[in-house]
Amino acid sequence: MLTRRQFLKMSALAGASLYLPWRWSVPPPFAADTLVPSTLTKFIDPLPIPGVMPQLTPNYYELTMSEFKQQLHSQLPKTRVWGYNGTYPARTIEARAGVPITVKWTNDLPAKHFLPVDTTLMGATSNASRAVAHLHGGHVLPEDDGNPNDWFLPGNFKVFHYPNSQRATTLWYHDHALGITRLNVYAGLAGFYLIRDAQEDSLNLPRGAFEIPLVIQDRIFDKNGQLFYPDSGQSAPPPVPPIWVPEFFGDTMLVNGKVWPYLEVEPRKYRFRFLNGCNARFLNLKLPSGPSFYLIGNDGGFLPTPVTLTEILLAPAERADMILDFSNYAGKVLVLGNDAPAPFPDGGDIVPYEIMQFRVTRPLSSEDTSAMPTKLPAIPDLPRESMVRDMTLEEFTDANDNPTVLLLEGKHFNDPVTTKPRLNTSEIWRLINLTGDTHPIHLHLVQFQVLDRQPFDVNFYNATKKIKFSGPPVRPAPNELGRKDTVRANPGEITRIKSYFDIPGRYVWHCHILEHEDNDMMRPYQVVT
Ligand code: C2O
Ligand code: CU
Ligand code: CU
Repeated sequence: MLTRRQFLKMSALAGASLYLPWRWSVPPPFAADTLVPSTLTKFIDPLPIPGVMPQLTPNYYELTMSEFKQQLHSQLPKTRVWGYNGTYPARTIEARAGVPITVKWTNDLPAKHFLPVDTTLMGATSNASRAVAHLHGGHVLPEDDGNPNDWFLPGNFKVFHYPNSQRATTLWYHDHALGITRLNVYAGLAGFYLIRDAQEDSLNLPRGAFEIPLVIQDRIFDKNGQLFYPDSGQSAPPPVPPIWVPEFFGDTMLVNGKVWPYLEVEPRKYRFRFLNGCNARFLNLKLPSGPSFYLIGNDGGFLPTPVTLTEILLAPAERADMILDFSNYAGKVLVLGNDAPAPFPDGGDIVPYEIMQFRVTRPLSSEDTSAMPTKLPAIPDLPRESMVRDMTLEEFTDANDNPTVLLLEGKHFNDPVTTKPRLNTSEIWRLINLTGDTHPIHLHLVQFQVLDRQPFDVNFYNATKKIKFSGPPVRPAPNELGRKDTVRANPGEITRIKSYFDIPGRYVWHCHILEHEDNDMMRPYQVVT
């Protein structure tokens, strides 16, 4: 019996893109229960565009989490999903920098979860529908953050304030309940949150019908067209959790809650806000024989300068704000694809290449007077750092090399807080990845700067706890400049980020592979005065 790592290595060498995940032979044991994705015709449903979330009174919203059925593909029966105010994904909150809003979040979910809860994971003591919404990338007070410990049960609500005290950018909100975040987001609890400002207004970007948010997610359906989330199929006693799987990879791609949709566009410029909303899948997006990606923004707002790319890598939770100019593509049908190995970067699991279609089939409805800006708003420098912290990323395995738990700083989520940045100071964190996978590391509260990545000797580190670099530092990619809230920490590399902490209180940082986050790859940190 091969270990998972040996298996991944072999299948990556063989170029295979089959199911070969953790302890599953081909095909996976659940294959008999799941829908063969090729039974669904691709590109027969139009892309849904989430509308704008209405305000109840000026700058006040009420968002209710509930269970409902939604048509995810026209050849599927309606699928049970969870959403905010009755849609999956939720409608988009349109906010303005400097204009605070208030949201009353109500949990109206059924008492019990419909996906397999692993009650051996931290905090997941029952299969109750615990929930708490988090504004990903938001600059908010700790009590409004949607801390994973602040979950509440059906029949309850919480009121959170969002100051919108940050640059124009693409944020998103999603569930964050301790130990079941992967299941709650998988069920559908996610939506966009856009912050706009005067600098953005001055850029004359494509807007209105020509500005579209795109959240890409992978799913597996069962034979009845319902969401399928695998369990490990084993009943070993702890420390191996009985249900948890180390990463979820789906065989079916959805955009804005529709399976393999198409979008009819005019031969003109469009602005797309891409969000990788997958639990664990990295996306290397490409649009062969289409326009190149003209990137203007990422997680934290506008880039220092626009970047033209033909493909872009997005880890779970990363965003890309880009302009696509279809004006020379009238009549063309273009397929957005993804070829990122899963797990990333070594591969071995299924990679459904196609995501959606762009059809440049609409006539030009009006002259396109929007711009591809060549200059973007300046970004203020972060103050000089007061200290450097070394933060390890570790994976633990059982005797068969199957992952059992993942840790940051060598500590569990519930261990005492050890990371206490001083209020109004900057810190550099060195993310020391001792695992074989890339982890998208996310900090709450801050938009940080990615400084560099440098290869190091992992074996030497494991033996001595000392860093021996094995190559020069590498600057971040041009589309990782500016500000970020999620960064790819690659295996065998130390990734350096610099953050400025300007609100006191308790926050968290974690891996945004949701299966990792739920199995302890998350730590509190406390900004102290
Ligand atoms: Cu997008 Cu702590 O999460
Ligand atoms: Cu977040
Ligand atoms: Cu991870």
